Amino acid sequence: MIEVPLKLALVGYGRMGRLIDNIAPEHGFEVVLRLDEFNNQDGEGITEESLAGVDVAVDFSIPEAVPDNVVRISGLGVPQAVGTTGWLEHLPRVRGAVEANNTALVYGANYSIGVNAFYRIVREAARTFSAQQGYDGFLYEAHHKFKKDAPSGTALRLLDAVRGAGYDRPVDVCAQRAGYSPGVHEVGFDSEADTISLRHTARSRMGFALGAMKAARWIVGQRGVYDFAKIWDRVK
Ligand SMILES: NC(=O)c1ccc[n+]([C@@H]2O[C@H](COP(=O)([O-])OP(=O)(O)OC[C@H]3O[C@@H](n4cnc5c(N)ncnc54)[C@H](OP(=O)(O)O)[C@@H]3O)[C@@H](O)[C@H]2O)c1
Repeated sequence: MIEVPLKLALVGYGRMGRLIDNIAPEHGFEVVLRLDEFNNQDGEGITEESLAGVDVAVDFSIPEAVPDNVVRISGLGVPQAVGTTGWLEHLPRVRGAVEANNTALVYGANYSIGVNAFYRIVREAARTFSAQQGYDGFLYEAHHKFKKDAPSGTALRLLDAVRGAGYDRPVDVCAQRAGYSPGVHEVGFDSEADTISLRHTARSRMGFALGAMKAARWIVGQRGVYDFAKIWDRVK
């Protein structure tokens, strides 16, 4: 049986948007709309006409643009996968719009499958060290100099994982912005005697793009708002 490609709208056409545009056809998507700061100032590019026939939208734009864009796209009944970070304080409004329009949204601070496995590993380590008073927690992350938010959305998720596992002592957080790294995250526990550190290093942006496309395929036909970190191992 020949599979019909899903019609994809890209919201944000920077490093991630372009990468997804390049690899979308071999993953069963046809990119039919590309929105950026030139054709989507204040959401003007999101109309009934421009999104006609679109099956799913993938957003890798800027934090300031996400809430209004997601609300508008939800109003047109199009499911969305958002990869942009740094906008989560607006989640209640975004959730309200998605639910009111009976459509669907998946968001992820990090669409890499490896990072989502890393959250799980970090949670387990934090559970262990919560009972060991002699160990201080730390979190270090490093990204390229163009990244706009700090600490990264992934670092914030890692902190949530540490806290959620019952580690309630201070965790020193350090963010570096220099050069071209696609992303390093390290969580560690340091005592007088030794250091345990867990590190994830992204080798390229490809892992993010592949995960985002999996999420985009999965969200079509769903209803409601999903955090990719909670559903990643259900997504084929
Ligand atoms: N979840 C993940 O796995 C993951 C992975 C990588 C990156 N990210 C996040 O994804 C976001 C994008 O990353 P990137 O590396 O692709 O950044 P980027 O290269 O700066 O691309 C962002 C693009 O969005 C454009 N934009 C600005 N206003 C817009 C609007 N109103 N509507 C649509 N697009 C607009 C930007 O234009 P200007 O440059 O002119 O502002 C830029 O072209 C960041 O928040 C980053 O942290 C997430």
